[in-house]
Amino acid sequence: MTTLDGVRTGVDRALEASVAGSFTRIGPAVRSRLFGWEPLAAHRIDGKTSVVTGATSGLGLVTATELARLGSRVVLLVRDADRGRAVGREIAAKTGNADVTVVEADMGDLDSIRRAADSLRRLPGVDVLVHNAGAMSGTRQLSPQGIEQTVAAQLVGPFLLTHLVGAQLRKAPSRVIFVTSGGMYTEPLHVDSLEMSPETYDGVTAYARVKRAQVSLVERWAPQLAHLAVTIAAMHPGWADTPGLRTSLPTFGRVIGPLLRTPAEGADTIVWLASASGAGTPSGSLWLDRRRRSPHRLSRTRRSDTVAERARLWTFCCERSGITGDELAALS
Ligand SMILES: NC(=O)c1ccc[n+]([C@@H]2O[C@H](COP(=O)([O-])OP(=O)(O)OC[C@H]3O[C@@H](n4cnc5c(N)ncnc54)[C@H](OP(=O)(O)O)[C@@H]3O)[C@@H](O)[C@H]2O)c1
Repeated sequence: MTTLDGVRTGVDRALEASVAGSFTRIGPAVRSRLFGWEPLAAHRIDGKTSVVTGATSGLGLVTATELARLGSRVVLLVRDADRGRAVGREIAAKTGNADVTVVEADMGDLDSIRRAADSLRRLPGVDVLVHNAGAMSGTRQLSPQGIEQTVAAQLVGPFLLTHLVGAQLRKAPSRVIFVTSGGMYTEPLHVDSLEMSPETYDGVTAYARVKRAQVSLVERWAPQLAHLAVTIAAMHPGWADTPGLRTSLPTFGRVIGPLLRTPAEGADTIVWLASASGAGTPSGSLWLDRRRRSPHRLSRTRRSDTVAERARLWTFCCERSGITGDELAALS
């Protein structure tokens, strides 16, 4: 490492340690200059197929738009098909890429995911799968299958969908990307506490636990996928000014206000992981602002994230998703 590299890394680490400097728009503003980021437009992915969940709003909308701009066929996986079609028309008009289709799926409903996967299996292949759909809910709700909704839509649903399109993913060197949250740094991995009871439920905690579980799942899953040339990654977007953030954390949104990232700044690393040559390696890592990040900041959360607890997480996902042996085999 040269002295200059050392200085760059030192500045990046100082930003990371400050949290606010890293998560606000200061993060990408400094890092893009520090590390000379290539424009996303440099990474053409013509002929590839990208599936983006939660593509009607915020980070998912920007991600789908940018992937279309880079030449990818884009499939918008959305729970409101009319809204999805309107978004698809907007993306086509904005990017000049008309290869944008809509598949309906509520990521919190396993039956809906199975129907969506039937449509996705008709695609010749899936090169990029972005698990972006997500929300923080102040009230505890159950999915149609009786799973607490935060867990259903952001952990169990994505786990099932990834397996169901496994055959499509393994046709090409493909990338699976989970959009997690920096909020997960506060929560340990405790599989038994993932689904919070009515007595203990707190939306912020439930969300942070699920986002922690996503990061652990990605790291647990990566070695299994290596021989299939499927790269799996988790990224967190910092704090971005999206409808989701404004609705779930209105006071926080007002206080941080002008320092929030734009949706494009929040989604930059998703698009980079999906499109840049060699991005996302080593597989199983967590990323922010195009750099690999530690999944832990606190020793109490690091202690909980053991091989045994990750094995329990895998079993939990298998059991809750009702996945069968044949379906599991698609990505083995
Ligand atoms: N914004 C931030 O600062 C921030 C920070 C950390 C992490 N994140 C993560 O980034 C992702 C995108 O969030 P955002 O800020 O862009 O929020 P957003 O503007 O509210 O967008 C969320 C998207 O997810 C979809 N969605 C939610 N639940 C769904 C379900 N059960 N099935 C299908 N689609 C569903 C929404 O669809 P509808 O339009 O139908 O509601 C919407 O398209 C989330 O995973 C979030 O946790 C965001």
